[in-house]
This record gives sequence, structure tokens and C-alpha cells, in this order.
Amino acid sequence: MRIVVSIGGSVLAPDLEAARVEQHADIIDGLVADGHEIATVIGGGEIARRYIDTARELGATEYDLDSVGIDVTRLNARLLITALDSSATPEPAETHEAARASLRRGEVAVMGGTVPGHTTDAVSAMLAEMAEADLLVYATSVPGVFSADPNKDETAEQFDRLTASELVDVISSIETAAGSNAPVDLLAAKIIERSGLRTVVLDGTEPQRIADAVAGEFDGTEVVPDE
Ligand code: UTP
Repeated sequence: MRIVVSIGGSVLAPDLEAARVEQHADIIDGLVADGHEIATVIGGGEIARRYIDTARELGATEYDLDSVGIDVTRLNARLLITALDSSATPEPAETHEAARASLRRGEVAVMGGTVPGHTTDAVSAMLAEMAEADLLVYATSVPGVFSADPNKDETAEQFDRLTASELVDVISSIETAAGSNAPVDLLAAKIIERSGLRTVVLDGTEPQRIADAVAGEFDGTEVVPDE
């Protein structure tokens, strides 16, 4: 299968611990050894937020704050590239085109953000769409998609399975609630919907779950294309 794995920065390297990066690299190497084509998109996590907060205090524009975030996602991408044993393109791809070219050469593509104005959730969905991936996996810090933000609403329930249009509705309502955090952002959900991407949202703090999802054992939320 051709698979795009989106790994949140707070999942890959919350405290910049080498061992956690290694664990994720081992899972990616295992998927490659099983014959899968893999592209990964790495987020910025808490480290990006800290850089952004400091730059905001210093008066940076929103555009420049996004650029700071993108730089951190690419630093995190470099950590994963360093830890991979499989043949990975040695520099983080800065565009979707570059990531697709890596895949076509038979390499693991690793990228962070691309341009200001969105997050790596959307970058991952765009890459899966462009590369015609069979599966898109979001390794996040939450167990899946909930009916509301579980940190704000204790009645929130986790979905095992959703259609893509249901995902768009759920994410829209979560993003409308002030201060709530959705596991995948709305732009990503809309791309998943329009391209009918088979998607899994799972807790990636245990990296083995990524391999399990590829093997069809969904411990998270599965998003299926609409009929
Ligand atoms: P993330 O994708 O990690 O954002 O990119 P996030 O959703 O805030 O992080 P999580 O999922 O909660 O851990 C970090 C920041 O980098 C900028 C945005 O400012 C984003 O918040 N960014 C990232 C871009 O502007 N463009 C991109 O393509 C990617």
C-alpha cells in the first residue's frame, strides 16, 4: 500500500527524546520492509508553540509566526530522517511535488509544513490526495475523533467509524466551540472528504498502533469515504 503517516510533533518528540524518535523510525522501517510505500508528515508540537509564543511577544506577524512553526516542523522531520534505516530522502521535502518525487524514486519521503496559513494536518491530506495514497494515518496525541473536545466536554464520545462527510460536520462543530481542539483540522477533513481518502485517526504516543492500523486493526477512529 501507499501510505501517508502524519505524526504530530508532540507525538514524535515531546521532549526531544531520541528513544521516542527511534520508536517511530522503527515502525516506519518495518512498514517499508513489509513492502509499503511510505511518506510521513511531521508536526511542530509543543516546541513549535513555544517558539511561536516568543516570536508573538516580539511582535512577529501571523505570517511570520507560521513560518517559525514551519521551521520547527522541518527540524522535527530531520530527527526522523536521521533515525530511519530505510532509504529516506536526506532533506525534508519542502513541497508536495518534492515528496511525490521521493516516493517515485522508491524513497521514504519525510516533510514538515509547506506554506503559512494551514497546519501539517492539511499538508498530510494534500499529500495523500496528490500521491493517491491508499491510506492516511494521523498519529495524534488523542485516541481518535470525539463528538466534542474531551478536554472541554465530559460527555464527549469517541467514534469508531465515521463517513468523511460526518467527519467534516463533527470537526466544524468542534472548531466552532471557543477554545476547543479538534484532532484533525477542518481543511484536512474537507480534503479527506473530496478525495475519498481512507483515513485512520489514532493515539500515536504508542507507535505500534500505526503498524496495527495498517494491518487493519483499528484502535482509533476509521474514516471511510461516503457512498
Ligand atoms: P502543526 O501542524 O504542528 O500545527 O504546525 P498544530 O496543529 O498547531 O500542532 P498540533 O497538531 O496541535 O501538535 C505547527 C505550526 O506551524 C505552522 C502553523 O502555525 C502551525 O500551527 N504551519 C505548519 C504552517 O503555517 N504551514 C504548514 O504547512 C504547517
